[in-house]
Amino acid sequence: MKEQRQMRQPEIVMLPDAAALTEAATRFFVEAVRSAIAQRGWSAVALSGGSTPRALYRRLAQPPVCEEIKWHRVHLFWGDERAVPPDHPESNYRMAKETLLDHLPIPPANVHRILSERGADAAAEQYETELRQVFGVTPGEVPVFDLILLGIGADGHTASLFPHTAALAVRDRLVVANEVPQIGTTRITFTAPLVQAAALVIVLATGPDKADAVARAIEGPKDVEETPAQLLRCAQGRVVWLLDRAAGSRLASAG
Ligand code: 6PG
Repeated sequence: MKEQRQMRQPEIVMLPDAAALTEAATRFFVEAVRSAIAQRGWSAVALSGGSTPRALYRRLAQPPVCEEIKWHRVHLFWGDERAVPPDHPESNYRMAKETLLDHLPIPPANVHRILSERGADAAAEQYETELRQVFGVTPGEVPVFDLILLGIGADGHTASLFPHTAALAVRDRLVVANEVPQIGTTRITFTAPLVQAAALVIVLATGPDKADAVARAIEGPKDVEETPAQLLRCAQGRVVWLLDRAAGSRLASAG
């Protein structure tokens, strides 16, 4: 299906260093969640994996920041997961548990882990069902997250939507298993329609090795198969790129 949506201009925020980036991400996170709770009584956030968000998760777990959010009104999900058990060093759930979940008064029922130990296909199907139940949406509707946190790989992937992989073309599912030959594994990932539906997407990127992918994603010639993070150009909500100077250094707008 051709994307007919109006291209949405992303908001690009360049921060001087990692501490400033963490602070900015914390402010966006707290504001998005508090606003949703004020409007609807609850908030749904999808966490990203990898290493970049660790500092943000640690900051959210520390007083007084952690006291700014009514965590019992927050439902946490993951935008993707590796095909490993939850206690594996590469598990995105484990990283968030250690840096954030273990330090929050969040009810276990509000933490929606991808059950990767069931196998990628079964875990993806189960997760999609759980998503629909929590959001109370019908099979034809796409849940709207208040916030989806994303990273970007040096190859331009985001979540576990890697270049030239089958999940990139999926439009009729929310969560799928995605075989990623370039890293010799299968991941579980949100699909583009679910990411694009979010009210707010925040992409965190630091370091020079992300600079080329960030520039391709934001300003490069349209080729989503080659740079999957370009799917954010068709987002329906706000897209905010929080970058340090190195990650933003190849942007024309960086001057
Ligand atoms: C994952 C992430 C992935 C990540 C990027 C960036 O499961 O690894 O969801 O999309 O955000 O690969 O990872 P870093 O933050 O480690 O650079």
